[in-house]
Amino acid sequence: MKKWLVAVGVTVIAVAAGAGMYLYAGFYDIGADTPHWPIIHQVMESTRTRAVLRQARDIQVPSNLNDTQVIAKGAGQYAAMCVNCHLAPGLESTEIRAGLYPQPPNLSTHQMDPRATFWVTKHGIKMSGMPAWGLTHDDDTIWSMVAFINKLPHMSPQQYQEMVANAAPHDAMPGPDAHGHSPAANSGSGNGHGHSHGAHSHGARKSGARAHD
Ligand code: HEC
Repeated sequence: MKKWLVAVGVTVIAVAAGAGMYLYAGFYDIGADTPHWPIIHQVMESTRTRAVLRQARDIQVPSNLNDTQVIAKGAGQYAAMCVNCHLAPGLESTEIRAGLYPQPPNLSTHQMDPRATFWVTKHGIKMSGMPAWGLTHDDDTIWSMVAFINKLPHMSPQQYQEMVANAAPHDAMPGPDAHGHSPAANSGSGNGHGHSHGAHSHGARKSGARAHD
């Protein structure tokens, strides 16, 4: 029994050392144009799925995700910052998406849990190209994106175009300098995207959603 344990221990250490040397020597192909080894892919994928599930589970979903003005605000945000990677009804592919690994999911074809959408949008995902938008956007603005993404799988290409066209004058495409300042500097009005409705104050800011930074 004891000998058996020692053999197992030695094997484990040898495998770990071998793997460590392989990585340290620079042999692992980290290029985005070849897939991960299946085992690494599986570990990373399930790590991500489990982490989002756990960390998003207590987020309070605001009651105004069906509010048309909130959705319209999110449409402008999405068209400005997300569509190139995450596509839209009528948009099958983009050059940036084709080259990304992992490939960003097509958010116009699969329905997500709003809590998970919020968590990933706010915090991003390490080593994937998915940015943490919470560094430059307040929670209300992120919830408006969630509200829009929630409707996206049900939209026709025409409806998508109309929503984006209608959103543009109010929540104009942010220029590079609109994102330079810290989240603390914007007073909850969408980072100076200058919406003039004044209609975003109804209960979107739930303190519960902020407790998960
Ligand atoms: C540069 C490309 C890029 C941009 C721009 C981008 N994302 Fe992502 N996003 C990704 C990638 C890549 C993933 C997948 C990460 C992974 O699976 O590890 C992802 C994942 C997500 C997910 C999780 C989807 C799922 O099925 O689990 C959500 C939600 C999301 N992004 C929302 C957004 C929103 C909202 C925006 C715009 C504000 C945005 N993303 C902009 C690259 C991008």
